[in-house]
Amino acid sequence: MRIDVVSLFVDFFRGPFDASLLGRARTEGLLDLRVHDLRDWARDRHRTVDDQPYGGGAGMVLKPEPFFDAVEQLYGSVEARPRTVLLTPRGRTLTQQLVEQLAAEPQLLLLCGRYEGIDERVHRALATDEVSVGDYVLAGGEAAACILVEAVTRLLPGVMGNATSGVDESFAAGLLEYPHYTRPASYRGMDVPAVLTSGDHAAVAAWRREQAVATTRQLRPDLFEAWRRSDGEGAG
Ligand SMILES: C[S@@+](CC[C@H](N)C(=O)[O-])C[C@H]1O[C@@H](n2cnc3c(N)ncnc32)[C@H](O)[C@@H]1O
Repeated sequence: MRIDVVSLFVDFFRGPFDASLLGRARTEGLLDLRVHDLRDWARDRHRTVDDQPYGGGAGMVLKPEPFFDAVEQLYGSVEARPRTVLLTPRGRTLTQQLVEQLAAEPQLLLLCGRYEGIDERVHRALATDEVSVGDYVLAGGEAAACILVEAVTRLLPGVMGNATSGVDESFAAGLLEYPHYTRPASYRGMDVPAVLTSGDHAAVAAWRREQAVATTRQLRPDLFEAWRRSDGEGAG
């Protein structure tokens, strides 16, 4: 998969895009991740990409021209652009379901805002998706882009060591995941549940299912209700 990211602060991505899972996915050629400096498409010698808001008010707004020029240079035309995600607090909240959809695309373009945000014409004419990482305001879209890229990359074929490890994960089936334990079996008076050391695979699977339901019910009643309605099983 190829992902292009357009940002005003390309140094932000040093580290997050090079370390661990993302670094490995890039080295192994599973992810072609390219970060572009918005200033490369500034039109004056001062490399200006922002201006004051029409109508007044505090803060600066990122101009439309550099974004349109970036898209035209990267893909030939606006029409030829891939699925284009503009990171913004007003967007649809990123969920595992949306991550799965995005991971199925051959190519993505991510647009990061700064300051007061990006000129509305970029939202309207370039963004195919407006995505938020939560109901809070960040200083820029870069941290949000890192979250999206990491969540998407985990799902790319060949990226996760164990191909089945995503199947049981939180949100995959509308529930949170069951609790995990590793050695030692007893630690500071806290014991690993006996069923996990029983060797009885069916009992382990049943316990995990039960725990996933109970954890979701306790920690995320909203998810639990949605799961109960769609699954039809209920949990008693
Ligand atoms: C300081 S914010 C602008 C906030 C904007 N004035 C508002 O009130 O909605 C600057 C940039 O950070 C990014 N950003 C901030 N919060 C975000 C969030 N929750 N999800 C995704 N991007 C976010 C966006 O790209 C935004 O253009």
